[in-house]
Amino acid sequence: MTQARIIDGKAFAAGLRARIGEDVAKLKALHRIQPGLAVVLVGEDPASQIYVKSKGEQTEAAGMRSETHRLPANTSQAELIQLVSKLNADKDIHGILVQLPLPGHLDSAPVIAAIHPDKDVDGLTVTNAGRLASGLPGLVSCTPAGCLMLIKDVVGDLSGKTAVVVGRSNLMGKPMAQLLLQADCTVTIAHSRTKDLPAVCRQADILVAAAGRAEMVRSDWIKPGAVVIDVGITRLPSRDPDAAAAGKTRIVGDVAFEEALEVAGAITPVPGGVGPMTIACLLDNTLIAARRLAGLEP
Ligand code: GUN
Repeated sequence: MTQARIIDGKAFAAGLRARIGEDVAKLKALHRIQPGLAVVLVGEDPASQIYVKSKGEQTEAAGMRSETHRLPANTSQAELIQLVSKLNADKDIHGILVQLPLPGHLDSAPVIAAIHPDKDVDGLTVTNAGRLASGLPGLVSCTPAGCLMLIKDVVGDLSGKTAVVVGRSNLMGKPMAQLLLQADCTVTIAHSRTKDLPAVCRQADILVAAAGRAEMVRSDWIKPGAVVIDVGITRLPSRDPDAAAAGKTRIVGDVAFEEALEVAGAITPVPGGVGPMTIACLLDNTLIAARRLAGLEP
């Protein structure tokens, strides 16, 4: 049997960023608007620091205004909400992202609720979740939006396809399911309590794995020819014991990639699949937010 097509998320994201860069230049030239993104990072979580740095660099590379607000780990809920309110009122800022997870003493729900829905480029507010569920224009969470672009690129018309999303987070699983439903798929949201998860996954023409469990999806969970989208990112010790002893690590997804290659029709690698799409879609959302806030699109 032929091996699965490997979906090149890195190349797709580069193309998307180039298109966004051109649209940003047009918005500046025609309307004197420069889209602005503010990212808020509380504390010193190492993975979050890497993501936030990368978001800032890519925002600037697209010609947008980038602000990174780094707050100490002991920032209070009131201080954080005060910053969000200030950014809501800032005319030069069109997108606000509060990097998650927040330090343990902070409650993310009221912080997210404080973000103006039209600047909520994470699509996390109740208003944007409701807009998505109701089929109204809003801002859609970046990772599922990026996954849908990759899926559409491979599959074309999704109408009537069976889709299974493993994971039910507000940031990923739930919006992913809504997007697939809107594209006329028959959608199942599976999770850690789902009975016979392998059998449920085997039904899927499109399988999105976003459970956060390293290499959980094995080859016998995959319908032959299925499109497999791997959203997982787990850092494990290197396979080579000497390298592992020296602290070297490797990144794996939620899918056992090598064996899945033998069964799937197409599959995203980790890294280089879904990951690069997330920031590209964040830039896209910031551009959309800037155009909408200026009344240039509904
Ligand atoms: N932490 C990891 N991914 C994300 C994301 O997409 N948005 C936010 N706000 N925090 C994250």
